[in-house]
Parts: sequence; C-alpha cells; structure tokens
Amino acid sequence: MREYSIAAIPADGIGPEVIDAGLTVLAALEKRLGDVKFNVQHFDWGSDYYKKHGVMMPADGLAQLKPFNAIYFGAVGAPDVPDHITLWGLRLPICQGFDQYANVRPTRILPGIASPLRNAGPGDLDWVIVRENSEGEYSGNGGRAHKGLPEEVATEVSIFTRAGVTRIMRFAFRIAQSRPRKLLTVVTKSNAQRFGLVMWDEIAAEVAKEFPDVTWDKMLVDAMTVRMTLKPQSLDTFVGTNLHADILSDLAGALAGSLGVAPTANINPEGHFPSMFEPIHGSAFDITGKGIANPVATFWTGAQMLDHLGEKDAAQRLMRAIERVTAAGILTPDVGGTATTRQVTDAMVDAIQSSNL
Ligand code: IPM
Ligand code: MG
Repeated sequence: MREYSIAAIPADGIGPEVIDAGLTVLAALEKRLGDVKFNVQHFDWGSDYYKKHGVMMPADGLAQLKPFNAIYFGAVGAPDVPDHITLWGLRLPICQGFDQYANVRPTRILPGIASPLRNAGPGDLDWVIVRENSEGEYSGNGGRAHKGLPEEVATEVSIFTRAGVTRIMRFAFRIAQSRPRKLLTVVTKSNAQRFGLVMWDEIAAEVAKEFPDVTWDKMLVDAMTVRMTLKPQSLDTFVGTNLHADILSDLAGALAGSLGVAPTANINPEGHFPSMFEPIHGSAFDITGKGIANPVATFWTGAQMLDHLGEKDAAQRLMRAIERVTAAGILTPDVGGTATTRQVTDAMVDAIQSSNL
C-alpha cells in the first residue's frame, strides 16, 4: 500500500464545497485502485479563523504543514476582509515559505465545453502556463509614506533575481521538453521594463542553450494576449513573471470555457517542502452555498497532485474520468449546464468505478 498524507485547507467561499467534492473523488480512486491510500487531515484556516483569532492561520502553521506530502487548497477571500489580508495571511506565506516557485497551469478545452473562440475546439488550445511564483511583482517589496495625506507615496517594487529567473526558466524548458511539440514561449515586457525583464530575456537565451531540442520564442505580454486569442494553436508551453502569468492564466481559463475548470499547482520542484494544489477560480461568494460551484478545476488539480506524488496511472485515470463526465454534458452553469456540484461529483465517482475507464 502506498500512503500519502494530504493537508486539506478548504478555507473560504466555495472552497469547502469544491474540496469536499475533490476528496470524494480521491476516495473513489482509492477504492478503485486498492493499493493507494490518502490520509487526509483538515485545517480550518481562512477568513472565519481570522475573524475569531485575528490571523488567517496559527503562527506555527507552516511547521504544521511541513510533514505532509501535499496540500489540497480551496480558495481564500471574504467580502468583509480586505483581499490583501487574506492573501498575505495564508496563501502567499505557504507559496513563499515553502519555496513553491513553479506555478503550473495546464489549459485545455475539455470535450463538451465550448470555448468563446469561434472555431476552437478540443485540441486547438493545449497549453501549459508556467508562472514564476516566488518573486517578481509579488515580492511584497514596497511601502507607504505620508499615509492618508495628499502627499502620500506608495511603492511596489518588483524583484527579479538571477537565481529566481534561472530556476523558473529551467523548469519551463523541462516541461516544454517533456511535451510532444517541445515548444516554449517566453513572455516578457522588456521593451518598457528595461532592467528586470531584460535580464529575464538574457537568462532565457542562456538557459535555452541547455535545451537544444526545445524550440523557443519571445513575446511581449500585450502581444501575447492577441496571439492567445487569434492563434491559440501556435502556442504550447509558456513562461512568464508572477503578475504577467497571473493575468494570462485568467485569459487562458476564459478561452478554455471557464475559470471553473482551470487548475493550478504550486510546486517546490526539489521536494524540500510540500507542494500545493488548488483551483484558480477563487472564493466566488456570489455562488457560495448554492451547490453549483464547478468542481472540475479541483478534480484536475487533484490529478496534478497525483502526478506530482508519482501516481501517474491514478492521475491519468482521474483525467479520463473528468473528460468522460464533461463530454457527457454533465456540467455546472458556468460552463452552460444545469448540473449541481453534487451531480458532477456523483458522475465522476460512477466513471471512476466503471470497468472500462
Ligand atoms: C491566482 C489568483 C491569485 C493570484 C489571487 C487570489 C491573489 O488570482 O491564483 O491566479 O493572483 O495569485
Ligand atoms: Mg489569478
């Protein structure tokens, strides 16, 4: 029996609904496979915890999470707590404290899901976005002076380090190399941002020499939005800074049909710390408690988690189940269906149990 310890942090909004669905599906896989076991422990951290304790997680939160093999994360954000508090109180301390510097965001048009792009169907859009996840525009470097006065000043300074850029570039080239097309697009804005992003371009060219079999090109981030929209087939793997790739991945999610299907993995590639797996969509208070949250992103990130843990067969099986369910039209309202979270989850469990999956 192969056993894995999973820390579940459902947190806010629809987070608990989708993580509950994700854990139901993992339990079904466990039953089907028979030789894998997931020991799940729940953590009640998040905005409700903040309202009671004044912090999003306890001071020793990272120490509590460190022994786990992986973290399965829902979403943070509440209407009555400022977003920068929820973000900097829970999700970012985990990403940065556990040096999860590689954020991986696969995007595909799943069968049965319509893209808003005319003429684009499954196969026309098959991307992996690699987002630098430890520095750049999210380094938290800045401050405010003369607060509230007319002369108030605020700075928000991006940090790009040679070590940080080199490691994400290597990671992205490796992913590109592992995919059939061996194609990488390096996204920058080195015309306007002439220090950090010129270094980013230089490092890309250096690292590229280590991967002679990977074809690579460069795009400015603004032009990249056009290429993603008009020529989605021309892209495969792409790598960008923390903020650029954040923005592009929302566009990617929308082009693939809905943010409700978009997964993300926050990876510490060296395995010194647990990696964290989550849906991209966020807490979505407008639909919280209605039972209609799309659980597909959480299933898909569950497949990323299994893949990361080395359970390749289980990961592929889970992806096949997702595709079978979406192809059958069992979809939540955000992707044009009428199914509830529960119905999609039940269909997943049936697919996993069926003998021909
Ligand atoms: C994402 C999200 C987060 C981010 C938000 C919730 C701060 O948009 O994972 O893409 O920007 O990192
Ligand atoms: Mg985002």
